[in-house]
Amino acid sequence: MIRKVMSKISRGKYKRTKIFFKKLILNIQGKKYPPHFKLLPPNLVELNDIEDLKKIFGWENNPILDDSIIYGVESDVDKNNRRVIDAQTLGTIMCNVNPKVALEIGTATGHGTALMAINAPKSRIFTVNILPEDIVSGEGGNLVTEAFSKEKIGEYYRESQLKNIKQIYANTAIWEPDIGNIDIAFIDGCHDTEFVYNDTVKVLRHMKPGSFIIWHDFNMDQVMDYGWINSVCKGVKNCLMKDI
Ligand SMILES: C[S@@+](CC[C@H](N)C(=O)[O-])C[C@H]1O[C@@H](n2cnc3c(N)ncnc32)[C@H](O)[C@@H]1O
Repeated sequence: MIRKVMSKISRGKYKRTKIFFKKLILNIQGKKYPPHFKLLPPNLVELNDIEDLKKIFGWENNPILDDSIIYGVESDVDKNNRRVIDAQTLGTIMCNVNPKVALEIGTATGHGTALMAINAPKSRIFTVNILPEDIVSGEGGNLVTEAFSKEKIGEYYRESQLKNIKQIYANTAIWEPDIGNIDIAFIDGCHDTEFVYNDTVKVLRHMKPGSFIIWHDFNMDQVMDYGWINSVCKGVKNCLMKDI
């Protein structure tokens, strides 16, 4: 009994020491994460750029980035080349993995979908978006970006005449993937923490080891600045903490 209590105390001490050092390192790096992120797994690796990513996996191909929207800056959040880096990341993974099946959650007008399709022309790309009436009825969560009309959803990729895309109209809160094994998933639908968590859990059930999940708006450096980024990071953190 005494030994059990002792070991509990020392485990508590160890945890506190670990958090102290983690906070210290973050402070030195000039990063201020809120307390709920203090237990992120130590194996989280931050990459500087796409060359780092290619090096880690031994990849050689560079993505096609031919959409002018990638180079635009619409708001504060797009500063520091955010759109270019996002597109490079998604495009590089697509053109090097060449997945049989890739899934995008959150089509919007279809720019991300087109990027995925162009960079992996032999792949089948499924893209899911909620219909506006389900957003209005409140069933689609809160941080939904925009309630696009059915005609607007995927408009860009349809104009690009890409043939390897299949549109699905559904609310991921109730949609169950029925598209076979998923090799790459790009999660960019509702940004509420519970949706990010649920979308991830659902997708993982259809993935094999070695598959890729990409979360848009997962940026630990911006959790204090943007509510939706904080919400997405919490969803990803919850997945990592549960070790799903
Ligand atoms: C940020 S936008 C996606 C941008 C797109 N992935 C791109 O790269 O261009 C988010 C999209 O997710 C959709 N969405 C929001 N909640 C959803 C839900 N519960 N199920 C499916 N789609 C959802 C929104 O309607 C919106 O079109």
